[in-house]
Amino acid sequence: MTPESTAEAVDEQLRDEVWDRLQARVLSARWFYDRRGSELFERITRLPEYYPTRTELAILERHASEWMRQLRPGALVELGAGSARKTRVLLDALEVERPGAVYVPLDVSADFLRATAEQLRSEYPSLRIEPEVADLTRALRLHPHGEPPTLFALLGSTLGNFPPPAAVEVLRHIRDAMVEGDTFLLGADLRPSEGKSVEELEAAYNDAAGVTAEFNLNMLAVLNERVGTNFDPTLFLHHAFYDARHGWIEMHLVTPQGCTVRVPGRGSVALEPGASLRTEISAKYDRRVLVELFEAAGLEMEHWVTDERGRYAMAFAHRLD
Ligand SMILES: C[S@@+](CC[C@H](N)C(=O)[O-])C[C@H]1O[C@@H](n2cnc3c(N)ncnc32)[C@H](O)[C@@H]1O
Repeated sequence: MTPESTAEAVDEQLRDEVWDRLQARVLSARWFYDRRGSELFERITRLPEYYPTRTELAILERHASEWMRQLRPGALVELGAGSARKTRVLLDALEVERPGAVYVPLDVSADFLRATAEQLRSEYPSLRIEPEVADLTRALRLHPHGEPPTLFALLGSTLGNFPPPAAVEVLRHIRDAMVEGDTFLLGADLRPSEGKSVEELEAAYNDAAGVTAEFNLNMLAVLNERVGTNFDPTLFLHHAFYDARHGWIEMHLVTPQGCTVRVPGRGSVALEPGASLRTEISAKYDRRVLVELFEAAGLEMEHWVTDERGRYAMAFAHRLD
């Protein structure tokens, strides 16, 4: 296949996927992220209501030096790295323990990744920064990076954006990229408990400034740009709530009056008044659920740390052979 025909095939596949997902009223969270989507997500992480980022950062600040001293990784591969803001805490400790180590930020959002890598190169001259553009929902074929062992990190509760069967697949892809001696570090937002009410959890997805709503609506602009759909974002409203039965937050775009959406080359989908497109789930965990997910993916949990209120956890695992 020529590069052009490959690109055409990808476009066709994407159109098919958008067409199928529109009928099912379930869009894909990976369509949030163009440059603007990545920037909006960064703004979300700084909102007063959005406790997960601050809480994960606090856990990292407390433990990063000790973890890096124990693990001494020759490479740190960060999956879904985004702006790598929190990672700087890990990188500061890595620089001390293993100067010359490699940092591999990996993301689907290529533009944002490039900008992150440039920035980090100037901040960490003693580390090698080797970005990888990859999709976690596919097998990870990574270039070789640095000396062993490798620390793979999936932070920001990104795993929660994949419904349980897909989450196991993502974990399995990570596990398959690991060799003996490597470690996996996961940051995971936890289910409501004594230390966290449902209201506090839901407020994190319904901020007063409306940034999460903007982020959610940006998916329609991404699809208009990439697939040529004709979504009118002004006809949609942001809606997010906790589903206790599944243990996840659902984010939707609701069209109160209804509308018709055209998918070039496929046809039109009529959305009835009140139709709701699910754009994201954000699964919340507890220790038992995570141990089970890890085991299903061939990973064994070895260590578990939470903040003092039990709102957020960081779990370490190694590969089970
Ligand atoms: C929730 S953000 C977390 C960003 C950062 N790790 C943090 O903790 O703030 C999710 C990140 O994962 C990336 N991402 C989403 N789906 C992905 C996929 N299928 N493969 C690779 N990266 C993905 C997004 O581009 C985004 O940068």
